[in-house]
Amino acid sequence: MALDVSPEFNQKTGMGNLDGQNLEVEQKQIALETQKLSAWFGDHHVVKEISLSVEKNDVFALIGPSGCGKSTFIRCLNRLHEEGEGARVSGDVLIQGIGKSGGRENIYRSGVDPVSVRRRIGMVFQKPNPFPGLSIFENVASGLRLAQVVRRSVLEEVVETSLKQAALWDEVKDKLKKPGTSLSGGQQQRLCIARALAVRPQILLMDEPTSALDPISTARIEELVMKLRGEVTVMIVTHNMQQAARISSQTAFFLMGELVEVGPTNRIFTKPKESKTEQYITGRFG
Ligand SMILES: Nc1ncnc2c1ncn2[C@@H]1O[C@H](COP(=O)(O)OP(=O)(O)O)[C@@H](O)[C@H]1O
Ligand SMILES: [Mg+2]
Repeated sequence: MALDVSPEFNQKTGMGNLDGQNLEVEQKQIALETQKLSAWFGDHHVVKEISLSVEKNDVFALIGPSGCGKSTFIRCLNRLHEEGEGARVSGDVLIQGIGKSGGRENIYRSGVDPVSVRRRIGMVFQKPNPFPGLSIFENVASGLRLAQVVRRSVLEEVVETSLKQAALWDEVKDKLKKPGTSLSGGQQQRLCIARALAVRPQILLMDEPTSALDPISTARIEELVMKLRGEVTVMIVTHNMQQAARISSQTAFFLMGELVEVGPTNRIFTKPKESKTEQYITGRFG
């Protein structure tokens, strides 16, 4: 008899129950997979045939020296790269839950709307960029407004939940009408994270989200990323190797547009297989 055991069920329990037997099932779902993903600026081939996969609700770090293609790579994952002049992409990016069936879908398949991709795959940039002129509340609500959500009670609930998830609620709950730009840099970055989370993205891309922040704000963002584990898939680009080591479970090392090595963070930082990785993590270049 074929039993239809939902992956969600297995995900929660780690167990499948088939014919009365308890079978331990390694249910690691893949949230995102790139297959030979390449990107160009004009003739400049900056991301070279990258194939990697990211587990669902995990934190995945991307490291490598400046200019190696980290930002370009993650901008390909929500179809932002192609917006630039002369920019081109080839290869596939398979995302779970994008297709109508909820199955895996190539976001570069013809007919896929880039806007709907960006709604599922949120992004937080290096420099906090709250919408100027919008209040704290409206910054967080902006994605829902775009999606035509107008019920005040729904907006209020989502704004509160998202600000709590972004560990900002307690600091702003009494001044939600103040401009988003009135907050400190670290608070603004958490506001941007709340704004990204409000539309319930499957994946959150973060491009050096703490590089413009002081150490205390950085620590708060790291804590919040660690708390998001289990709820949303996070891919974070960081220059800070200690940060990658603290918060991620998988790490990929890029060099000149190529993927040199990928694996469990622990191993990458203690027993890298490639000498280039070792040279980089021991500070010999970059
Ligand atoms: N808008 C752009 N136009 C042309 N070349 C670019 C642009 N942005 C980045 N590049 C080039 O692409 C390469 C990869 O850049 P980037 O993805 O920003 O690297 P990283 O994020 O690892 O520092 C670099 O050589 C950079 O100079
Ligand atoms: Mg960059």
